[in-house]
Amino acid sequence: MVAPTSKKLFSVTLRVWRQAGPAAPGKFVDYPAANVSPDMSFLELLDVVNDEITLKGDEPIAFAHDCREGICGTCSCTINGKPHGPGKGIATCQLYMRSFQEGDTIVVEPFRAKAFPIQKDLVTDRAAFDKIQQAGGFISVRTGAAPDANSIPVPKEDADLAMDAATCIGCGACVAACKNASAMLFVAAKVSHLGLMPQGQPERDKRVLAMVQTMDEAGFGNCTNQYECSAVCPKLISHDFIARMNRDYVAALFKAKFKPASNAAGGGAG
Ligand code: SF4
Ligand code: FES
Repeated sequence: MVAPTSKKLFSVTLRVWRQAGPAAPGKFVDYPAANVSPDMSFLELLDVVNDEITLKGDEPIAFAHDCREGICGTCSCTINGKPHGPGKGIATCQLYMRSFQEGDTIVVEPFRAKAFPIQKDLVTDRAAFDKIQQAGGFISVRTGAAPDANSIPVPKEDADLAMDAATCIGCGACVAACKNASAMLFVAAKVSHLGLMPQGQPERDKRVLAMVQTMDEAGFGNCTNQYECSAVCPKLISHDFIARMNRDYVAALFKAKFKPASNAAGGGAG
């Protein structure tokens, strides 16, 4: 027998940050929403509210989304003061209206960080993450003839940890939650994902140095061990990866300083 579920419709007010463009002043605007189903996703509610706004001839709320299943990392907004809203281990697109109650006022705003300038309403420019990734988030291998997967043994613990890090979807919630707008959790996930695998060793030192430098240049703050990042991460990525990246970074700096220049970029497993 299927357990009965409550389908009672309810009403909320969306208090949404509206900003016409990067240089325009922004403000909160209230949008009442009636007949809200508890089974609607939060983005579906935004769609419905946008339909009503459009029918009135006004400009719909701009918000970013793509996969709507927690994979792409584009649906990034802060809901009631928390990046990705209430709930744990979910992106905004995985948030359902059953998390709210009749009469709630739900405050929706873009991720706020100097390195993520607002483009419009809830949409921010997170190209800074792309620059960090381009600085070292790759391995240089010939593609086109993949070797047998078992030809390079990988310890199970390392494979599991690398997989945990690889789940980062680059959403930026960690930055938005941090009082310093630090990107350390994102960068640590990207650095560790490759640094834990044998294929990532040749560029391990060069990678961490370049990615951290690009992160600093983009205007992100430093980590002061508050761990808001892990608390809001939709993939529950552990802040332990930040310590791992710091160790890698110090080791790479040391090698770059004290080894002959021709060897300075070489890495090693460990
Ligand atoms: S570490 Fe988590 S919160 Fe940060 S970008 Fe990756 S998935 Fe998003
Ligand atoms: S829309 Fe892709 S993670 Fe939410």
